[in-house]
Order: sequence, then C-alpha cells, then structure tokens
Amino acid sequence: MKTRLYVYTGTGNSLWVARQLALELEETTVQFIPNPPRDFEAEADGVGIIFPVHVWGLPIHVIRFVNHLQVKPETYLYAVAVNAGQVAATLLQLRKLLLTRNLSLASGYSVALPSNYIPWGGPGPIDRQQRLFAEAQEKVKPIAGSILRGEREKVEKGSLWQNILFSSIYKLSFPRICKLDKNFWVDDKCNGCGICSKVCPAKNIAIVNEKPTWLHRCEQCLACIQWCPQEAIQYGKKTARYHRYHHPEVTLQDMLDQARANKA
Ligand SMILES: Cc1cc2nc3c(=O)[nH]c(=O)nc-3n(C[C@H](O)[C@H](O)[C@H](O)COP(=O)(O)O)c2cc1C
Ligand code: SF4
Ligand code: SF4
Repeated sequence: MKTRLYVYTGTGNSLWVARQLALELEETTVQFIPNPPRDFEAEADGVGIIFPVHVWGLPIHVIRFVNHLQVKPETYLYAVAVNAGQVAATLLQLRKLLLTRNLSLASGYSVALPSNYIPWGGPGPIDRQQRLFAEAQEKVKPIAGSILRGEREKVEKGSLWQNILFSSIYKLSFPRICKLDKNFWVDDKCNGCGICSKVCPAKNIAIVNEKPTWLHRCEQCLACIQWCPQEAIQYGKKTARYHRYHHPEVTLQDMLDQARANKA
C-alpha cells in the first residue's frame, strides 16, 4: 500500500512521530502540510494526517488542509494527534470535519510527547522526556500494525467531562488564536538573525529594524519562541525562566523545509 503522511509541526514532535511511523510502514513518504492550502488530490492508497493538538482541538493549519483535501473514496484515511497528554475530543473533531467532506476517518490515534506549550512551563526533566520518547516509539509499532492490516478502529479520545469542557474552551478561544501573538516580545538578546521569521509556517513574522514583528495571523505553533537560537523571544511574563524545547532528532533545517513547503 502506497502511503503518504501529511505533517504539521511546531517543535518537531509530530514530524518525529511521522518518521517513526514511516519506518514501520511500506512505501511511505512524509510531506509537510501546505499553507496556504489549495485543492489537491492525495494520490496514495493510504493517507495519514499527523499534527499537534492545540487547545484541545485541531490547529487552524490542519482545518484548512482538510477543507481542501481531495482523496479517492477508497483511500484509507487515518490520523495521529500528537499531544502532551490531553488529546480530548480532537480526533472526534477531525472525524466530524472529514465527514463534511464526505471522507471517512478509519482510525485516529493519540501519541503523547513533551509539551511545547511554554506559556504554561517547560518540557519537563530530561529523564521524563526520554521516557515519553520511548513510550511513543513503542506505541507507534502497534499503530503501524493496524494501518498495515487496514483496520478500522474507534478514534482515541479523552473522558466525557474533559471533552465537553475542553471543547467549549476550544470553541471560545479559536477565533482569538490569530491575535495571541500580541503576547510575544523580544528581549535584548535578539541579534536580528531572522530565524524566527524563517521557521514560521504562517509567514506571520516580519523583521523590522532587525527585530521580529508579529502580524496577527498566528497559528500558535510556538516555533518562533522555541527555535530562536538566542532564546530572545518571550511570551507574557514567565517564559524567561522556562527551558526551550524542540524534539532532539528534528533540526532547524526540517523547520525551514516546512516553511518552504508552505510558501510553494
Ligand atoms: C497552542 C498550543 C496548545 C496546546 N494544547 C494542548 C492540548 O490541548 N493538549 C495537549 O495534550 N497538548 C497541547 N499542547 C502541546 C502540544 O500538543 C504537544 O507538545 C505536541 O507534542 C507538540 O507537537 P509539535 O512539536 O509537532 O508541534 C499545545 C501546544 C500548543 C502550542
Ligand atoms: S530568531 Fe531570535 S535572535 Fe533571531 S531575529 Fe528572531 S528573535 Fe531575534
Ligand atoms: S508567529 Fe510564531 S507561534 Fe505564530 S505561527 Fe508563526 S512561528 Fe507559530
């Protein structure tokens, strides 16, 4: 079965999961989800969508992609929602969205990795991160097995109360996400290198007078704050004291490749 994995990532966790999955599957290519989207047909027999959970739901980038996705009716379609322990109703939301396009989600899996949501803290101690990497690697194997057998399974989800509560918060916050970049600022460590602008998958950062300016079409992927080599970007008041994070096997070049794919 020819498989294509479409990936969106802020700090590499989802890309790493896609690569782990590709190692287990046959004839698999990994491709970044484009932005701005355009209608395109995914010509593989199997199509996987791999992305981070944002605010207990789908990132806008993934919603736009699904809204333009064209696959043959017989395509085997599945998803992996990469998260920090709270997938909530994200995969149910995806299943519903796909249905609006007459597409059926065969299965949806949750994989937990370190949190990149730095406004709430750092990614946790290294030994915990390593445990999460090992657990995720173990979880990818049975996921790949199910995919290779073409199984149709229930989608993974949180508890009922979590799904109700967190989905309400998602709905309330979703329209405000693009403007949350007003909370970013740079301290005096910024040397004007422009990397934050280059890694942004939304082309949301202009470098003006050698400093980043955010343009209010933010997707909140947090790539800019996490990949700044000087750790000069802050969000609100607390992030100066938190460690930055990106997946250790994902490189800045990977992020530049994603941004380039988005400009194509
Ligand atoms: C804006 C934002 C919101 C997030 N919301 C959640 C969430 O609701 N549940 C969760 O488990 N993790 C949440 N996270 C953490 C990420 O889903 C998690 O760290 C993921 O592995 C990051 O993947 P990436 O490196 O591919 O971007 C959030 C991260 C961001 C940036
Ligand atoms: S990546 Fe960091 S140092 Fe470079 S321009 Fe952006 S904020 Fe400044
Ligand atoms: S401005 Fe930063 S958080 Fe917003 S989309 Fe760009 S890289 Fe992601």
